[in-house]
Amino acid sequence: MPATPFTDPDQIAGPLYADPARLARRTSALHAAKISGDDATATITALATTTSTAAPVVCDIGCGRGTSTLQLATRLRPSRLIALDQSAALLDIVRERLTAAGLDVDTMCADFHHLPLPDGSVDVAIAAFCLYHSPRPADVVAAIARCLTPGGRAVLVTKSADSYQEIDQLIAASGLDLDAVERPSLYTTFHSGNAANTTATAMQVLQHQHQQQVFRFQHLDHFADYVATSPKYTLSAHLAGHPRRLAAELRRRLPDRPVTATSTVTYVQAVRP
Ligand SMILES: C[S@@+](CC[C@H](N)C(=O)[O-])C[C@H]1O[C@@H](n2cnc3c(N)ncnc32)[C@H](O)[C@@H]1O
Repeated sequence: MPATPFTDPDQIAGPLYADPARLARRTSALHAAKISGDDATATITALATTTSTAAPVVCDIGCGRGTSTLQLATRLRPSRLIALDQSAALLDIVRERLTAAGLDVDTMCADFHHLPLPDGSVDVAIAAFCLYHSPRPADVVAAIARCLTPGGRAVLVTKSADSYQEIDQLIAASGLDLDAVERPSLYTTFHSGNAANTTATAMQVLQHQHQQQVFRFQHLDHFADYVATSPKYTLSAHLAGHPRRLAAELRRRLPDRPVTATSTVTYVQAVRP
């Protein structure tokens, strides 16, 4: 039994990432709500550019829709840029986005537990907001270390285990999912509290930093846009994945006031000795 829906292979290969539109909806609902916190893509790129290698080989692991991949392509001017993900549908989007920007990318459809890259072949590896999808993130960290050149850099990014707990509380208070607060965090396997120690099992951690982000969903429609994309809640089939119906049901149960939620984003910068 997977620890959370985020480590459930059926969720990962199916509802979470088979449909690029759903990931785009989740990301845009969160971005529209963000009222404070750094731009994660800018921070990831800044940490990646500390490499001393000119024209590095760069691999964006679990690249999703390629938002970081695009920035890495323009800022690092890599000799080779690899965008790796398990979702072929998302890799199609990455290829389209980079091609439209006139940038080169090699896409690789692969499981990050078994990186199909030669030993010591990558100068900079990024794994942002994806290692919590592994039941054994230390294995992925070891796979990344194997692929890095000696002195090669890794930037691993995740969220705190208590991310969005205010949303869990509100969903429980609405009566739609009474167990929402007790259920394990989606980020249980790789989170702000264990990311640096997990990374240190295979690499030398240079630094790790935590940044708080605050989100304000102005009304329940906007809140429902985000909640409908989360696998955390056990909602009736009538509501799950249906933001408009979910918003209407929430309005029946709760005052339509702004909802504030928080998350900590943690950046671990490491080097292969
Ligand atoms: C939340 S998205 C993160 C996307 C991107 N890194 C970002 O920061 O926007 C997580 C990504 O991890 C990918 N993923 C999950 N499990 C994976 C695995 N075992 N191997 C490769 N990619 C995986 C998913 O397909 C998805 O694209």
